[in-house]
This record gives sequence, C-alpha cells and structure tokens, in this order.
Amino acid sequence: LEVVELIADMRTVVARARRAGKSIGLAPTMGALHAGHRSLLARARKECDVVVMSLFVNPTQFNDKDDFAKYPRDAKADELIAREEGVDFVFEPAPVEMYPDGFVTTVHVPGLSEILEGKSRPGHYQGVATVVAKLLLIGQCDRAYFGLKDYQQLQVIRRMVADLNIQVEIVPCETIREADGLAMSSRNVRLTADERAASPVIARALTAAQAMADSGVRDAQAIRASIARIIEAEPLAKLDYTVVVAPDDLSEIATIDGGAVALVAAIFGGVRLIDSCTLQSR
Ligand code: PAF
Repeated sequence: LEVVELIADMRTVVARARRAGKSIGLAPTMGALHAGHRSLLARARKECDVVVMSLFVNPTQFNDKDDFAKYPRDAKADELIAREEGVDFVFEPAPVEMYPDGFVTTVHVPGLSEILEGKSRPGHYQGVATVVAKLLLIGQCDRAYFGLKDYQQLQVIRRMVADLNIQVEIVPCETIREADGLAMSSRNVRLTADERAASPVIARALTAAQAMADSGVRDAQAIRASIARIIEAEPLAKLDYTVVVAPDDLSEIATIDGGAVALVAAIFGGVRLIDSCTLQSR
C-alpha cells in the first residue's frame, strides 16, 4: 500500500497503470472507515487490477463548521483497513492541494441537489459533486464505487457523470448494516447508548415498507405514512423527512408502478441519520 499526497504523483501512478493496460477502481471516502467502506473496497479489489482509495474530509460539503470539526479522523487506522482490504494506493491530499488559493469552480447539479438532504444541508451536494468530479478526473478510473445508503448522493453523482461525459462506470454498492439493522455510518459513533439502542427504528420502518410493497400495496402515501408512524413512535427519534420517490430523479410518486425508493432522514440527539430502501410493486 502506498500513500500518495500530491495530485501530480497520483497522475503518474494512474498513467503508469493505464499504460500497462490495467483497470483502475476508485473508492472515494472521507475516512472513519467501517464495514460499509470495506465492502466498497472488497468489491473494487475483486473487479479491478489497481485499487485506489481516496481519503479526504472534504471541507466544501460541510455546511456546518462544527460538523466538519467533529468529523472523526484517524488516517493511520484507515490506512490499516485499506491495507487489509488490498488497496494499492491511498490518495490523501491536504485541503490546500485540492483547493489551492484561487480555486473558484463548483459543480452544481440543480434540482437533485436542493431537495431532501439538500434542503437541510444547503451547498452540501455542490461540495460533493465538485470534489467527486475532481477525484474522478485525477483518478482516471474505470469504475468508482459508492454506497446506496446515501441514495441521493449516488443520483447526484450519476447525473453529474452523465452530463459531463466523464468516462467512468459508477458502481452502486449495497448498504451494510449492523446486526440490529442500523445502516453503517461514520456518524453512528456519535450516538449515545440510548440513541444507539433507539436508532434501528429506521431500518425497522423501511423493512415494514418493503413488506407492504411486497404484499402488493402500491399507494406510496400509505407506505410513507407507515414509515413516519413507526419512526415517530420512537421518543428519541425526530423524523426530518420520509418520501417515496422515483429511483432516478427522486420525484415524489403517488403509485408504485415498477421501481421506487423510500428515503428517510431522522435525528437522534445531535446526530442526523439517513437510510433508504428500494420498493418493488408486484
Ligand atoms: O460519501 C462520502 O463519504 C463523501 O460524500 C464522498 C463521496 C467521499 C465525497 O467527499
């Protein structure tokens, strides 16, 4: 495993791999790696000759300074995990390397970036789209791996890649869960013991929603109401939103006719948790 800090060095590494005819897989991360990240890395390892993991806590996607300051950072522990998962290169740039003096460009995917998470976190997806565009251009990878847990992020990135003709396959990866259903997230460590015990209510609500859709319920509002009811019954959970939307543009739908996705955001104490699941009508 080699740690690469400079963009110029990353370009040299990538150019060498491409000249040798090797396929390159990139897993963008902000560190604080958990089993969810491991699954992205393992998939990249299986599918690509060279695996690059980026490790960069991107300041431009935090609209809350406190959230950025509190974001867990332990590069050595993350490098160890990357090594265990067979990563070849960890790209670990300093903020000034990614955003030098004079940096002004942003990538904005209107519409998708302003709804749902974008409403509570103005500018968040603009920061994500900008940094992911930079990472894809630096990494020149064949495939890039993203978790389905942040479903909206995945759609913003897919739209951006399609619109800008970036030649990469975006590979969505299944959400990895704790034994009690809580979706793995770097934020989970910030839950108190009581909040942690209450948090699987989100997964329970989504599982119930899937069961409704599986049993033939097509009324999206009924499914949405069921998710809300289950989460609102938990005193430690403050539901921000739950919606049932079309898989691509995340527009709200009335009837599940083919594919749909349920998205949830709920706050436990000071910790905002998001989760999602696909719904398939029979
Ligand atoms: O999902 C994340 O960890 C981040 O949003 C990403 C994609 C690495 C961009 O900073």
